[in-house]
Amino acid sequence: MTEVNTLSAIEVIPTGCALGAEVRGVDFAKPVPDDVRDEIVRIWGEHLVLLFRGLKLDDDQLLATAELFGGQQAAKSRDFFLQAGVKPGENDRVATRPAITIISNVDNFGKAGIASEADRSHGLKWHSDNSYVEVPPTGSLLHAHVVPAKDGGGATSFNNQYLAYENLPDEIKAAIEGKHCVHDDHRNTSAILRPTKKQPKTRYDITGPSHPLVRIHPVTGKRALYLGRHYEWPSSYIVELGDEESEAMLAKLWSAATDDSLMWSHDDWKAGDLLMWDNRCTMHARSPVDHSQARVLHRTLIKGNPVISAWDKPSAAAE
Ligand SMILES: [Fe+2]
Repeated sequence: MTEVNTLSAIEVIPTGCALGAEVRGVDFAKPVPDDVRDEIVRIWGEHLVLLFRGLKLDDDQLLATAELFGGQQAAKSRDFFLQAGVKPGENDRVATRPAITIISNVDNFGKAGIASEADRSHGLKWHSDNSYVEVPPTGSLLHAHVVPAKDGGGATSFNNQYLAYENLPDEIKAAIEGKHCVHDDHRNTSAILRPTKKQPKTRYDITGPSHPLVRIHPVTGKRALYLGRHYEWPSSYIVELGDEESEAMLAKLWSAATDDSLMWSHDDWKAGDLLMWDNRCTMHARSPVDHSQARVLHRTLIKGNPVISAWDKPSAAAE
């Protein structure tokens, strides 16, 4: 039997892109000693997105994995569904375990292609999970139970927001210093209005927390651009700028943040894959999915700590 969950069993295979690595020799279905957990945290800090393959985790084991790295956090989107009257277990976005989100196009008989809500088949725009809450989750765990065959879509892409910040021209770094962005909570990541939300008409209709445009990662101490999400105006905006200036600056920042050179795509999903990504220094997106093929993934969020503003830590400016 292959040894797992010891320091000597761990093998790291970087993607060769701006972020991401496959990690072998770890099985979260078995006990994970503290030294192995600490080593995974170190590797995570270095590579930002980790891929573990060949796992078979039930929901309790997935939640226990979140607990290893800081605790579990329920998705805010669940609240919107609950407010709209959906009962736990009635809708796969409102699973009976609060911190589990089920992403599925399969009906109760295992047949793919159920008439899904529009957002299930659309691609998902670049975003950082739950950036529209006051204390966003540290990371996310996405575990594949059933995935489409090749060409079934659903590739998950990531980009490195440390590099996005580092690569900004000095004049843009200076222009955003001290500035904050309100993260629009009206729409989901397919840009579709959430249950109970109305189309905003001005910035004053936008609800969501204000976060610094640049945050400090508590483990690495580095600065990362923190844009979260952005839709057609009116949407997320820079608090200290007028509407037009804010839109112009956000366009520049989004262009820098989503540059292809910062990206890695996980485009060969297999059942048993577990992706663990860091929401503090990466964004992710998903390509459209072919719903004639079954696709079932379970996600949980790793509990967050309050965002550390780069503007409160001038000593980190040089990092
Ligand atoms: Fe997401």
